[in-house]
Amino acid sequence: MLILSVESTCDETAVAITEDGRRVLTDQIFSQADLHAIYGGVVPEIASRSHVEVISQLADRALSVTGLTRSDIDAVAVSYAPGLIGAVLVGVNFAKSVAMSLGVPLIPVHHTRGHIAANYLAFPELEPPFLCLAISGGNTLLVDVRSYTEMKILGQTRDDAAGECFDKTARVLGLPYPGGAPIDALSKQGDDRRYPLPKPYVGENPYDMSFSGLKTAVINLAHHSEQTGEELDRAGLAASLCRAVSYALVPRTMQAARKLGYGKVCVAGGVAANSRIRSDFAAACEKSGDRLYIPPLKLCGDNAAMIGAQGYYEYLAGHTAGTELNAFANLSLEV
Ligand code: KG4
Repeated sequence: MLILSVESTCDETAVAITEDGRRVLTDQIFSQADLHAIYGGVVPEIASRSHVEVISQLADRALSVTGLTRSDIDAVAVSYAPGLIGAVLVGVNFAKSVAMSLGVPLIPVHHTRGHIAANYLAFPELEPPFLCLAISGGNTLLVDVRSYTEMKILGQTRDDAAGECFDKTARVLGLPYPGGAPIDALSKQGDDRRYPLPKPYVGENPYDMSFSGLKTAVINLAHHSEQTGEELDRAGLAASLCRAVSYALVPRTMQAARKLGYGKVCVAGGVAANSRIRSDFAAACEKSGDRLYIPPLKLCGDNAAMIGAQGYYEYLAGHTAGTELNAFANLSLEV
């Protein structure tokens, strides 16, 4: 089954064609990062306009590079939540019109379910059940993936997402947006114990997380150095942050892995590209005996192939929509 899939929830416009949820024929991605960089974050209105400008060209290119024609497409999948509402609406309306004009089913896909499904593209042998930590710019969730379409949230951030913590730290360190990758690079030259940062503990649910205190601690350190003229060890701060974020994520995930006993731990989302988090998970799973799955870097960030992958399984479960499909800024992935 060939699915044409669409992603436009934030600042990447993407159109992919995937086969049977596991094989990527093409994944066309236009990143708007340069458009937003001067503002230090995504400007929603600019994001929506840019999606409108490029989305149909990406779909045309997806067909031309694969040598397929419109009649080869069996269904259209679209990331319909969560995200910047104006941005998501562009993808949803585009997908609706393509599905209608081709006379094929329209499949709504939750964006974070898509991130989790990026692992199906990278690891053909992976099947649920498994535990997945989904870490991105807007979400941080620990998910019990019971089947391809049945998921239970075990824990989540109570405030900021892990990616937000990287992006805001990068801003105060004068690094470009999005900040995760530059912080990752800078951290390699620093001492990860240079700055003692808070270790957030969140109430009664051991799987819930919090990143706002960490973010504030880093911002305060930067402001303190500005005010006192004391030189900030930028690489040391980047390394200390990577260590602190990893500490907030890895032990909790491994605790949940022990409880569930699936023997399979997945990580997904843009922040899964972080080298410290990847190596800490590798060490933790080596010790516990769990099999670790983390997609290659190109499948960690937003893309449309992951939407096609999850879309295939949503289709098999009968989850299709008509032209009444709406976009949602917030929506639980359990729905
Ligand atoms: O999954 P994604 O592309 O978009 C959302 O769905 O939010 O994630 C983007 C986030 C940004 O916050 C970015 O700074 C972060 O992923 N990121 C990283 C790294 N590469 C991207 N964070 C830490 N280390 C990285 N290497």
